Amino acid sequence: MTEKKSTNVVWHSHKVKREDREKLLNQKGVILWFTGLSGSGKSTIANEVANKLHELKKLAYVLDGDNIRHGLNKNLGFSPEDRAENIRRISEVANLFIDSGVIALTAFISPYRKDRDFCRELAGEGRFIEIFVKASIDTCESRDPKGLYKKARSGEIKEFTGISAPYEEPLKPEIILDADNQTIEEETETVINYLKEKNII
Ligand code: ADX
Repeated sequence: MTEKKSTNVVWHSHKVKREDREKLLNQKGVILWFTGLSGSGKSTIANEVANKLHELKKLAYVLDGDNIRHGLNKNLGFSPEDRAENIRRISEVANLFIDSGVIALTAFISPYRKDRDFCRELAGEGRFIEIFVKASIDTCESRDPKGLYKKARSGEIKEFTGISAPYEEPLKPEIILDADNQTIEEETETVINYLKEKNII
């Protein structure tokens, strides 16, 4: 639990509500939370889904692990505590996005169940869509787009997810993508169809 140091702060209610913004945008503000190993394809799929949403004239925004770690979260490493703080901050940011009526897509390994569940609770019923990008370590390691698995195997990178740090698979994700066998197009279609079925878009 993060200590609350801000005192004497009062929550303000605003005139224009989420429902008003959602009406304006003709969509529901939700978080599409992509989770999976490094190299599983989270960012690539999130980008494709965002692109498809844009074509459908829906407002979406991608929050991506590697990018956010260049700015907002550049002071965080990869210990369990730092990963928890990484996910806590992203959860808060993503929640501001859904309050704005926007569809937030997040692409973080987010290896710990309790950190993902924190965001699920914050977002509330029907607002958090957990998407497990399921790829075997063999697939990710053979792709190794950033050469990180090689470094992790040689010990150059410590606490690397899947090699020397854990990944806790989601127990009840809303969507599972079979990243060992499906194409990016198929995975994108699965997500878009889900959003249509649930009347989110
Ligand atoms: S998370 O575990 O805190 O959710 P996040 O998604 O932000 O991770 O960042 C993961 C990215 O950081 C990886 O895709 C990889 O490029 C890089 N990275 C660097 N060191 C590590 C490490 N020890 N474990 C996992 N990813 C790492």
